[in-house]
Amino acid sequence: MTNRLQQYVLERQARVNQALDEILPPADSRPSTLHSAMRYSVFAGGKRIRPILMLAAAEARDWGTGHDQLGAAIECIHTYSLIHDDLPALDNDDFRRGKPTCHKEYSEAVAILAGDALLTLGLLTLATHGEEIDYDGLNRKFRSDRTAVVARAVGTVDGMIGGQMADLEAEGCVPTPELVRYIHKSKTAALIRASVVVGSLCGECVEEEPVLHNSLCLYGDRIGLAFQIVDDILDVVSSSEQLGKTAGKDAQQAKATYPALYGIEGSRRKAQRCLEESLDALGVFSDRAWALRGLARWIVSRAN
Ligand code: IPE
Ligand code: IPE
Ligand code: MG
Ligand code: MG
Ligand code: MG
Repeated sequence: MTNRLQQYVLERQARVNQALDEILPPADSRPSTLHSAMRYSVFAGGKRIRPILMLAAAEARDWGTGHDQLGAAIECIHTYSLIHDDLPALDNDDFRRGKPTCHKEYSEAVAILAGDALLTLGLLTLATHGEEIDYDGLNRKFRSDRTAVVARAVGTVDGMIGGQMADLEAEGCVPTPELVRYIHKSKTAALIRASVVVGSLCGECVEEEPVLHNSLCLYGDRIGLAFQIVDDILDVVSSSEQLGKTAGKDAQQAKATYPALYGIEGSRRKAQRCLEESLDALGVFSDRAWALRGLARWIVSRAN
């Protein structure tokens, strides 16, 4: 990662963490066990890549500032997906973000509710952020649009929950290219794409610029797929210490992954191809999209 990008990422991680602290209920407020569990998982660590992509997309379109809480909303929804993904009935993981998983630290019941609560809080924030300064109600459509984009991305039809279901059902099967692609696009790429789309929608009230918007949709889709391919590769080639989660789990559970189908080198080539397509999609943007380009290169370089 270049120095410029590292600075960029650190600054936005801090802003997103601040916004998360603003939208999450205090840990000692009732029901305090649940609020403290939500905060435990959200602040256990995490790269904040989805909110950072959202903010970088908003900057690429020159939409100004004041969007950090939207990034925080997306991070809440992502953290919900991790808490539930780790449950014994799903991937059964004990470590996440370098700490015991939510159900290990609290209980399965609390982890289920903490996930539910983070999803709900995330959607509420997307639906309401900025309404207090929208005196004439003109921006209502943008709030509803971005909420729908994210809700759809985490739903059952080509969204995260649908992908998680297919991921579970594919355990132990010999994966086909079509199936692994479907799983990865649904369980992971959909929310990453939606994060970029929310950034593109931050402009509100300005005239539509479909070419720029569609380019960002394509960028998000391609880099979202690359992200899960890289996650699969890291599960094979990295240590648990490096990952902050138990390495080698995918092979152990016979998950349908890119390395299982294409091998490590074949998977690296697939991720590289996605990177090229994501960068091509940004061709219509000037240097204003430098951070999106840098983030895409960084995401894929993690697999080397
Ligand atoms: C992990 O996501 C789950 C996947 C979708 C691959 P991240 O790698 O973004 O996890 P955190 O947020 O940094 O912990
Ligand atoms: C998870 O995929 C995708 C989610 C929607 C949470 P993985 O099961 O590969 O994620 P990790 O490796 O546990 O983070
Ligand atoms: Mg999983
Ligand atoms: Mg998992
Ligand atoms: Mg994984």
